[in-house]
Amino acid sequence: MANIIDGKVISAKIKEECKEIVLKLKEEEKTVCLAVIQVGTDVASSVYVKNKIKACEYIGILSKTYELPEETTQDEVLQLIEELNDDQEVDGILVQLPLPAHMDENKITQAISAKKDVDGFHDENVGALVTGHKGFLSCTPAGIIELLKRSQIEIEGKHCVVVGRSNIVGKPMALLLLRENGTVTICHSKTKDLKEITKQADILIAAIGKPKFFDETYVKDGAVIIDVGIHRDAHNKLCGDVDFDAVQSKVSAITPVPGGVGPMTIAMLMYNCVQSAKRKYKID
Ligand code: GUN
Repeated sequence: MANIIDGKVISAKIKEECKEIVLKLKEEEKTVCLAVIQVGTDVASSVYVKNKIKACEYIGILSKTYELPEETTQDEVLQLIEELNDDQEVDGILVQLPLPAHMDENKITQAISAKKDVDGFHDENVGALVTGHKGFLSCTPAGIIELLKRSQIEIEGKHCVVVGRSNIVGKPMALLLLRENGTVTICHSKTKDLKEITKQADILIAAIGKPKFFDETYVKDGAVIIDVGIHRDAHNKLCGDVDFDAVQSKVSAITPVPGGVGPMTIAMLMYNCVQSAKRKYKID
């Protein structure tokens, strides 16, 4: 039977660690503050933003929320980002994606000061990831590394296959696994014989964006499966990119959906906010 990697338990532990640090900072009258900007009323985005604010409240991180109407101009958002970049109280700035079609997502993302880019999307932070220097890490891939490490799953020397090459998950995931001395293969929509490659994976990161795509024929006996997908199946039940029931008897460890990778993203966002504040206060 596979070990079920419990993202709820591990993310709760990380949030507790953050809470402890925030409490200590508070004793010295030091605060941690995250600014969250949402443009428009995308339902999924509203849920994500609400959960991020809730996590801040739980940990003791102050939050400033900006819920802007759909018709807000790009210049208005850029102006707000500039103000928040200059605001000494603010440690992290997050613009929830996707943005309305009339905005250039890249321009907005790059306008956030790299020092406050707690999403890890700024080119400066992505560059630091490539070269192995200090910077903010994209939250989902950083969360996956924590899941593996805290489950005592060795990455070094393992064949890690990442299926997906997005800027938010696939690419930073591959770089982080490489940093941990994994042997990394990246697959994507143009990859030929995908199954032949995923069957060689010791660690498979499934971020293909298709519900229950990976069944038992895609995985090796004893592999570790990390499922980044989140979808609703035909019965309106949450599911991932992996057919959990089909593979679980074959693999050594697997993340469930929900309760696997999902909770880790917010925990790592909180971690990044705390790190940003510590840097501001010149701690460590
Ligand atoms: N939209 C979906 N995931 C994310 C995320 O991690 N950060 C931001 N800013 N927007 C998102």
